[in-house]
Amino acid sequence: MIEDLWYKNAAFYSLDVETFADGNGDGVGDFVGLTDRLDYLHSLGIDVLWLGPFQPSPQRDNGYDVSDHYGVDPRYGSPGDLVEFMHQARRRGIKVVMDLVVNHTSVDHRWFQEARSDPDSPFHDWYIWSKKRPKDWNEGMVFPGVQESTWTYDRKAKAYYYHRFYEHQPDLNMDNPNVRREVRRIMGFWLELGVAGFRVDAVPFVIESTVPGKSQGIHHFDYLTAMRQFLQWRVGDAVLLGEANVLPKETKEYFGAGSGSGLHMMFNFFVNQHLFYALATSDIGPLKQALDATRGIPETGQWAQFLRNHDELDLGRLTDDQRKGVFERFGPEAQMQLYDRGIRRRLAPMLGDRRHIELAYSLMFSLPGSPVLYYGEEIGMGDDLSLKEREAVRTPMQWSDAPNAGFTACDDPVAPVIDQGVYSYRHINVEAQRHDKDSLLNWMAGMLRTRKESPEIGWGDWKMLDPACPTALAMHYRWDDRTLITVHNFDERPHEMRLEIEDKGTLVDQISGARYAIPENGRVHFPLEAQGYAWFRVDDFTLR
Ligand code: NOJ
Repeated sequence: MIEDLWYKNAAFYSLDVETFADGNGDGVGDFVGLTDRLDYLHSLGIDVLWLGPFQPSPQRDNGYDVSDHYGVDPRYGSPGDLVEFMHQARRRGIKVVMDLVVNHTSVDHRWFQEARSDPDSPFHDWYIWSKKRPKDWNEGMVFPGVQESTWTYDRKAKAYYYHRFYEHQPDLNMDNPNVRREVRRIMGFWLELGVAGFRVDAVPFVIESTVPGKSQGIHHFDYLTAMRQFLQWRVGDAVLLGEANVLPKETKEYFGAGSGSGLHMMFNFFVNQHLFYALATSDIGPLKQALDATRGIPETGQWAQFLRNHDELDLGRLTDDQRKGVFERFGPEAQMQLYDRGIRRRLAPMLGDRRHIELAYSLMFSLPGSPVLYYGEEIGMGDDLSLKEREAVRTPMQWSDAPNAGFTACDDPVAPVIDQGVYSYRHINVEAQRHDKDSLLNWMAGMLRTRKESPEIGWGDWKMLDPACPTALAMHYRWDDRTLITVHNFDERPHEMRLEIEDKGTLVDQISGARYAIPENGRVHFPLEAQGYAWFRVDDFTLR
């Protein structure tokens, strides 16, 4: 049964153990602290936790520089703490997905240390080397500006090694079958410990063959198929959620073309960027096109829809004019921008007001796919632009107005807590919002409930309706004889919507409770506030 595919209709929540909750008072978040917060996450209504990398790492890239794929960074606790956490998550029905970072390792990794020390070491060929400096040594950087090259000379090896990301992250040579076998062992290891799948980091680079001097390598989709097969043989319902910011026409192959033998899920970066353009300008044409361009994935595949994550908001897929529009509205100052193409801010300070934030989240929840929240978004946390690069959006979770936001009992937290301005933990925190029935936190929990009561979005077929208003997006979902219609008005003025509905009965807004009878001719008129939204179910008692 297709309904067995849990990831088709699940709410994800992503966090870094390091900055979520500190259980032992040493200033660093840990598994004990996270375990204590599972009830909070459960009552918020999330189904899946995506944990950022928590393996041993020198932390030069927020843990995406792993130095031992089989361990738990002792700063976050012991393997025993991890297992206890997994157990407690399972008891609450929460699945855990973890990052699989295998495009590269840290330079500190034993494999790289052996590889660079001895050309005859079996590990030497686990990385990508060139005796001469390749002519494309300064092409293809993912972090232009902070990264100067993709090939760096290693004195010990007397050769250049390839790194798609920072120079402390040498790429693994995936064309080496021993490396691919090791990746399977890593997956097998964590699957035995109970993870429900992996968020696969940097997928296009994982499957790309690198040839010195040829910056565009071949993509081996069969590597992805082999990973998927292995995963499924080990744990039948485990998933691969891929990070691949690629063009819509390329996504089919990542999903495994028609057969669905690749990634189960992919983040919809394309829709994400056009969604921000729509939020910035009220011009929803490009968003509609992006939705159309990303439809037609295999039945067993699913999009992960999101607003913000631990990285910058990447706008690289927009046209120059579109990008300019988003920068003007959401990242006008140079310090808010990153790599000429991104914005290193959280959602709440970008959008500014509650109505706009609600519109953004209601919309995200209503798009085809499974929603992914970033920790702290549920209370509208802010950013700290005094921190470097993407660290701006990675400050500790704000639990209360106690010192250091209740994140830690220690006065030296791993990252500074936001304690200035309107986003200070003194104003924005979980505890205060729990007691305020109109808070963003309570709104978000209600929205998650509405989303979970709307399986049509995860399972159903969809089409866009014409609400006769150029700034409004109307989506129509149909699944198992049920109809759901969501309407979002991006404009800062109210508008009248006119929908042509094929169903008979009454439109009932699941959020406000407003009811509009569908007349004989099917034409329903109703008002939608400035930046307003409605989630209609067709209530026809003759149907059921
Ligand atoms: C993508 C991750 O999201 C990002 O945070 C990281 O820096 C790169 N991959 C490199 O692993």
